[in-house]
Amino acid sequence: MRAIVLNEFHATPTVEEIEVPEPGEGEVRVRVRAAAVNGFDLGEVHGFFTGYFEHRFPLVLGKDFAGTVDAVGPGVDGYAAGDRVFGVVTKDFLGDGSFAEYVTVPTSVGVAPLPDGVDFVHGAALGLAGAAAIACIDAAEPGPGRTVLVTGATGGVGNQVVQLASQAGAHVIATGSSEPEQQLVRRLGAAEVVAYDQDVAAAVRTAHPEGVDVAIHLAGDAAALVPTLREGGTLVSTLVFSTEGFPEVPDVFVPIAANPTPELLGRLAANQSGGLTSVTIQRAYSLTDTPTALADFAAGTLGKLVVDLDGDGVPDGP
Ligand SMILES: NC(=O)c1ccc[n+]([C@@H]2O[C@H](COP(=O)([O-])OP(=O)(O)OC[C@H]3O[C@@H](n4cnc5c(N)ncnc54)[C@H](OP(=O)(O)O)[C@@H]3O)[C@@H](O)[C@H]2O)c1
Repeated sequence: MRAIVLNEFHATPTVEEIEVPEPGEGEVRVRVRAAAVNGFDLGEVHGFFTGYFEHRFPLVLGKDFAGTVDAVGPGVDGYAAGDRVFGVVTKDFLGDGSFAEYVTVPTSVGVAPLPDGVDFVHGAALGLAGAAAIACIDAAEPGPGRTVLVTGATGGVGNQVVQLASQAGAHVIATGSSEPEQQLVRRLGAAEVVAYDQDVAAAVRTAHPEGVDVAIHLAGDAAALVPTLREGGTLVSTLVFSTEGFPEVPDVFVPIAANPTPELLGRLAANQSGGLTSVTIQRAYSLTDTPTALADFAAGTLGKLVVDLDGDGVPDGP
């Protein structure tokens, strides 16, 4: 099969022919129809997860996927060949990635049925960003009367967070610098937009002298957001795991580690198929163009970048 392979840290990923993987105990093999790009993939290229995960080279990149079950390993219940699925490759080592024609995944975590109403390109864009977004929302408890600041609102996680927080009735303040970014976050439900090339904390504090209830940190400087919080306010972050060294410490701090359980993926799929959330696809690429997708992601995003293995480079039907 063709796969996007990293042969050593910092190398440019290349398209290579490798063996089709066999599903092990408790695993299914998925014929990948689409796979989405995440910051995690770039982190793998640059060795950011050394010490946290075993890396198996030649390492196939890619976390998010959507496709059809192609083979079922021993001990698997509830999945059969042909089932439409999506998720996040979740193993205790890195190397079995989704930027490939086939991927094997354990059914205990990181895979769930893809509803008929969600196409593969959109399904592929849901998993990792959506799992992080739902964890942020569960921590933020948005609702009527609550004010929620979201920095990094224009990315994959932020898009979902803005929609879910505003639908829950919260007053959402989102970051976005260019006109298209500001339009996107307003369309997703933000009541206010702050350009992130200015002093976000100062702008928020001027508009809300009493402070916000929650700041959800998905980009930029986490410590700079603490002064935007009201007394007793909460800082939620997908990027920092401790507030050690912050000049000012929030009253409540919740670090996020996305955990794409089948139940959580089911919530994401239901939100998407029920029209509660939408995923913005900025651009779709062929498998061969995945290295370009990774470079484009590093240069900035407005929604999700997706690798479409059906090859037409545009979102397809269900
Ligand atoms: N802990 C976890 O489990 C977990 C899971 C998923 C993701 N993450 C992390 O969470 C973060 C967000 O993920 P993502 O997938 O949404 O990333 P993303 O798609 O790269 O989105 C980040 C967004 O933030 C914007 N941005 C850049 N600098 C900014 C700043 N100073 N202030 C406000 N916005 C800024 C970017 O806009 P431009 O295009 O204009 O640069 C981009 O739209 C990433 O760092 C990712 O690694 C963590």
